[in-house]
Amino acid sequence: MTTQKTDTQLEAPGLVFPTGFVWGSATSAYQIEGAVSTDGRGRSIWDTFVSQPGHVVNGEHADVAIDHYNRYRDDVRLMADLGLSAYRFSVSWPRIQPLGSGAINTKGLDFYKNLVDELLSYGIDPWITLYHWDLPQALEDAGGWPSRDTSKRFADYATVVHGALGDRVQNWSTVNEPWCAAYLGYASGEHAPGRREPALAIHAAHHLNLAHGLAVQAMRAQHADSRIGGCVNLYAVTPATESEADQDAARRIDGLQNRFFLDAIMHGRYPDDVLADLSHLTGPEFIEDGDLAVIAAPLDMLLINYYSRFTVSGAPGGAQSAAAAPTDSGSPWVGSEHIGFVNGGRPVTSMGWEVDGTGLYEVLTRLAREYPAIPLYISENGAAYDDVLTEDGAVHDVERRAFIETHLRVCHQAIEGGVPLQGYFAWSLMDNFEWAWGYGKRFGLVYVDYSAQTRILKDSALWYAETIRHGGLRGPAE
Ligand code: FCB
Repeated sequence: MTTQKTDTQLEAPGLVFPTGFVWGSATSAYQIEGAVSTDGRGRSIWDTFVSQPGHVVNGEHADVAIDHYNRYRDDVRLMADLGLSAYRFSVSWPRIQPLGSGAINTKGLDFYKNLVDELLSYGIDPWITLYHWDLPQALEDAGGWPSRDTSKRFADYATVVHGALGDRVQNWSTVNEPWCAAYLGYASGEHAPGRREPALAIHAAHHLNLAHGLAVQAMRAQHADSRIGGCVNLYAVTPATESEADQDAARRIDGLQNRFFLDAIMHGRYPDDVLADLSHLTGPEFIEDGDLAVIAAPLDMLLINYYSRFTVSGAPGGAQSAAAAPTDSGSPWVGSEHIGFVNGGRPVTSMGWEVDGTGLYEVLTRLAREYPAIPLYISENGAAYDDVLTEDGAVHDVERRAFIETHLRVCHQAIEGGVPLQGYFAWSLMDNFEWAWGYGKRFGLVYVDYSAQTRILKDSALWYAETIRHGGLRGPAE
């Protein structure tokens, strides 16, 4: 008897991933922890941002979020049930240093020590991200990321966390998605701290890179055997047409989004064309001698967050941004504000992001071609859909499962083609606070009932667990 097939992917052959491939899932501190005033945690820019009207859909905040601070043991148990080999999470800087510098809050460190011990007791490898956007408010008050001093404070904070956990955590990354922290935080203002100062956003981007480099050096000096990486969000970028204006738009967006960060951390330089695009806003004086050598401190791995492709138009009055912010905001595309983001005609997630696995293939093969060979990990990939908890107590999230399968197939294809891709982390383990979008956008493999704080494995989670058990994708259903 043949089973009815609902999508073409079920017809595709099974694929086995190399032994040792890391099967993970990811979260970040502010999006899940809650407990914002517990055990001496200081205030972060996100606490301030969400308390101001108009910043988050429905005025939502993450004071409780999904209460992971209190429920981490149960959440680790869920990870074990799924069979995850690794869990990527971030450390909240204001839990460790409530004022961003100086005094260390040992209770904050204890939380992460306990979390790590819990993970290790199940054989789950902890992957720490040091900064996922929750800057201590005191450092913002002193200038924030546009201030060079923040990079140095970050290196001190990295030294503290790595000093406390470096003996039992092997895999470390510095700044999650510096593009977002700089341009959504300081240019468009759709993320904390909500500033709209385009020239200073460029300085912020440089200081986030510098913070990365200084932290890599500090951690390397502390434990030579740690594996340390940078984490960038990369997009495939294509011109809407072959016109000169559209091709220039693609060059500009690729430059701002991808090359500015990759060239800095991998090659120790900023692309000349990007600096030229920005020269009417700022000269290069914020880049001091020696900075780029620090930023390009050798890495053990590169972490890539991939969600979608941008199709761009340089025509005057071009199309609207495809990934528009939920609330009133400026443009994050500093110096290239005229560029339009065109609908590429692909299916979209509930974020309006186009689903495009071929874009991931382009990103991975480009990295292998244009940058020094380095182990790669997909540190985030996933999709928000309008999940429904059905009467049978399940969430039949067929689209999310298909999304992940599509991208895993691409990963496998890239590996077969020689790309040194060594792991995949689904974003996200659980539904959580999706920044300016609040709780309305669900990315989790695990459904969270926000009022009861219950967790329910979605179909995608069950499928991912099975995929992990098989070390890859199974072939067509019998
Ligand atoms: C990434 C962020 C992550 C989450 C996903 C959807 O840019 O790193 O926190 O918001 O997008």
